[in-house]
Amino acid sequence: MILVTGGAGFIGGNFVLDWLANPQAEGLINLDKLTYAGNLDTLKSLKDDPRHLFIHGDIGDRVLVKRLLEEHRPRAIINFAAESHVDRSIHGPSDFVQTNIVGTFNLLESVREYWNALAEPSKSQFRFHHVSTDEVYGSLGPHDPAFTETHTYEPNSPYSASKAASDHLVRAWFHTYGLPVLTTNCSNNYGPYHFPEKLIPLVILNALNGKPLPIYGDGQQIRDWLFVGDHCSAIREVLAKGKLGETYNIGGWNEKANLDVVKTICQILDELKPRADNKAYIEQITFVKDRPGHDRRYAIDASKVERELGWRPNETFETGIRKTVQWYLDNPIWVEGVASGSYRDWLHKQYD
Ligand code: NAD
Ligand code: DAU
Repeated sequence: MILVTGGAGFIGGNFVLDWLANPQAEGLINLDKLTYAGNLDTLKSLKDDPRHLFIHGDIGDRVLVKRLLEEHRPRAIINFAAESHVDRSIHGPSDFVQTNIVGTFNLLESVREYWNALAEPSKSQFRFHHVSTDEVYGSLGPHDPAFTETHTYEPNSPYSASKAASDHLVRAWFHTYGLPVLTTNCSNNYGPYHFPEKLIPLVILNALNGKPLPIYGDGQQIRDWLFVGDHCSAIREVLAKGKLGETYNIGGWNEKANLDVVKTICQILDELKPRADNKAYIEQITFVKDRPGHDRRYAIDASKVERELGWRPNETFETGIRKTVQWYLDNPIWVEGVASGSYRDWLHKQYD
């Protein structure tokens, strides 16, 4: 078996679905705390799949994690669990420190105890894969080269600082204790099952609901977009073939300014689901107050994972964004499920 943490969230959920879509794949324990971002509806299609064992719990709960490791003896752990939204980290950084730093520390300690007691060859075959972000590298100027794995860590938000801290812990557990770790730092993901607090799903749903499409500042901030299925395939590749203790940057070479991303979504919606009044969705664009400490540009240099492991993304931004818009149009029930009271409270807090 493998153990996945945070597998009811956006990327973890996609990873679990993709993994189990392979009939040959081994079973998977999915440990998730089900915070506001965890959603069991994402995993509904697995309810009769005996290879999926969902456990409701915290990565920082050492008693629980010890029991899970001893009972199920996974050959690998993939740590997706985190608080992941930058704006929430600005309103309240405490959960970010607790899960991303203290939680990762506790998980590493539980795993170290388990791994130390493994016999060969299980011990040398074991892997701890930590899923991280390009945001740890900070912000790029307009002409700077894209982030490589040796770029200095310069996190600017409570979220990215907490992820940077977790990356450092993972690195230290490799160098000090020999724990067989792998780290991936990925750029912005988008795709199905994305919680609509993040730019792309927020814009799709606000557009359809006739609400403003909020653009922070001048909308010229650049993000490097990767379809979530491509991130999942990169993780499978790194888990299978990555060199111990190494980090791999994952990205799709898709730098886009936010305003252009939003305009593209509007154009696709104009085509797939025209407004009742036949006006363009673009009219709903509204410029709002900027995010404090807003990073101007991210760009990932993915040449290491491409060169050393032969990974390539399948989707371009144009194909991936169209699939994503179509997915939200086709899945109103999932959308209704997440647009609950707590989500509405967040929208008021952030945008009113
Ligand atoms: P998400 O917020 O959608 O999901 C996080 C999941 O973790 C949720 O299911 C939540 O319930 C769970 N969780 C939170 N705290 C937990 C805890 N203490 N114990 C167990 N489970 C807990 O996040 P996401 O966008 O899917 O991101 C997954 C990982 O990928 C994160 O580590 C994030 O930093 C990283 N990442 C995200 C992106 C992106 O664009 N979304 C890009 C690069 C890296
Ligand atoms: O780069 C990887 C990171 O991408 C991940 O580590 C994070 O977990 C993930 O949330 C994402 O962070 P961003 O802050 O880049 O994503 P978000 O969707 O929140 O914002 C994307 C850009 O759009 C960013 O420049 C802020 C802007 N934005 C966002 C929202 C929610 C707006 O202009 N308006 C909005 O309403």
